[in-house]
Amino acid sequence: MKMVVAFVRPEKINDVLQALFSVQVRGLTISRGQGHGGETEHVENYRGTSVKMALAEKVRIEIGVSNGFVERTIEAIAGAARTGEVGDGKIFVLPVERVVRIRTGEQDQDAVTPVAVLHQ
Ligand SMILES: Nc1ncnc2c1ncn2[C@@H]1O[C@H](COP(=O)(O)OP(=O)(O)OP(=O)(O)O)[C@@H](O)[C@H]1O
Ligand SMILES: [Mg+2]
Repeated sequence: MKMVVAFVRPEKINDVLQALFSVQVRGLTISRGQGHGGETEHVENYRGTSVKMALAEKVRIEIGVSNGFVERTIEAIAGAARTGEVGDGKIFVLPVERVVRIRTGEQDQDAVTPVAVLHQ
């Protein structure tokens, strides 16, 4: 199992959610964040010019998936979030040791996919 963590442009989140839905990826969390992706802005001050790290609004998406869903998850996010301009975002894939569905006590593979998808 993996946790896919992605940072995308806020204006792309609806496209990303639609792309994930269309490849049966359900069960996710999104939150807002202030991100820095290497871009700097020049700031004038009395000693001369200094460089300040620029922060931009980003949306963080966290999705716990079984191994068979990792590639489609990455492709759906990258395909929907890309504009080709700097600042499109980044996707991280983290190992997940254990998952527990609180309601049923199901664990790991049985717990990672939402019940609504299994019962379709
Ligand atoms: N190494 C990182 N760790 C955590 N968050 C990151 C990292 N790199 C980027 N992010 C997040 O992703 C957002 C977008 O990053 P960004 O797209 O600028 O990455 P990049 O690698 O600089 O790519 P690009 O060249 O397209 O700008 C950042 O604002 C930040 O929220
Ligand atoms: Mg950048």
